[in-house]
Amino acid sequence: MNVLVLNGPNLNWLGHRDPSIYGSKTLAEIERDLEPVASELGVTLEWFQSNHEGALIDRIQERTDWADGALVNAGALTHTSYALADALRDFAKPVIEVHLSDLSRREKWRRTSVLAPACRGRIQGHGPDSYRLGLEALLRESGR
Ligand code: DQA
Repeated sequence: MNVLVLNGPNLNWLGHRDPSIYGSKTLAEIERDLEPVASELGVTLEWFQSNHEGALIDRIQERTDWADGALVNAGALTHTSYALADALRDFAKPVIEVHLSDLSRREKWRRTSVLAPACRGRIQGHGPDSYRLGLEALLRESGR
């Protein structure tokens, strides 16, 4: 199974961002920790991070044939990007939304995800473990 792991704006800055919210691991460390878990599950991951909405959409379109599903942490685009929501809908494979922090316990504007209708579920609030739990949820949604 091939899984696209998309990370949106400011997630390249993990390790610098408020550690009381996002922890101290960098995105590279999150990637390093998830890779062996994915191999064990027979999953190939492709990681892509961008601070630009259009670049995320381009990558979804480019990898649609290759990918069997996606994990998406779109950062603040989660709350605003109808364009990304459309791209995920057109992708037409299972998508799990992932967040390090628990959106329900933060500012009110973070409680809305415009991506949610295009996703099969959301894992949030487990720090870096949200990615592992998200991968497990994705496999489940894919019937594997
Ligand atoms: C985030 C939550 C978003 O609201 C925020 O804009 C982020 C990170 C998370 O992983 O907790 O950049 O997606």
